[in-house]
Amino acid sequence: MKTFLELAEARRSVRAYKPDPVPEDLLLQVLECARRAPSACNRQPWRFVVVRDEARRRLLGTAYSRDWFWSAPAIVAVCVVPGDAWTRPHDGKNYAWVDGAIAMDHLTLAAADIGLGTCWIGAFDPEPVRRILNLPDGVEVVAMTPIGYPADDPAPRPRTRRPLPESLLREQWP
Ligand SMILES: Cc1cc2nc3c(=O)[nH]c(=O)nc-3n(C[C@H](O)[C@H](O)[C@H](O)COP(=O)(O)O)c2cc1C
Repeated sequence: MKTFLELAEARRSVRAYKPDPVPEDLLLQVLECARRAPSACNRQPWRFVVVRDEARRRLLGTAYSRDWFWSAPAIVAVCVVPGDAWTRPHDGKNYAWVDGAIAMDHLTLAAADIGLGTCWIGAFDPEPVRRILNLPDGVEVVAMTPIGYPADDPAPRPRTRRPLPESLLREQWP
């Protein structure tokens, strides 16, 4: 059993996938972890759109044109309904995207835990994605991810993370 630190280290963005389908029970297991994410006021404003159909994946590839993205055996679009989400009364800040991002993070870590690769995709053109997924008004896509078995070298790559002291402030912004 991996520790959380080991899992956080093991998860990395996967940009090459085997064509082998992801078994439905494993996909559901990953989504079960996503739905257990915390959300502001427990509003759970997320929806997960799973796309397995190759023709639809190819269409999504027009919104983010990397072959490794659409050719993965499945794509999950993490959507949110801001109208369902909590809004902070002091300044009107809607937390839907925060909640969606937490769910997505659970998803990517849960996938890594069972040997599935994912990659956050934020750099897509949202309008075609809305059309391809038939999203109604009031629904937004926070991120998408391909999901499948990694095809690239699983050997650990050096981490390019800022050392903690560069991100850690104590008591107040200096
Ligand atoms: C909000 C967000 C959006 C991202 N969008 C993309 C993207 O559009 N395409 C891509 O290849 N990677 C994308 N990434 C992945 C990052 O590039 C990656 O997480 C980062 O370089 C660290 O690498 P690692 O995930 O392997 O640890 C995104 C990550 C996040 C958190």
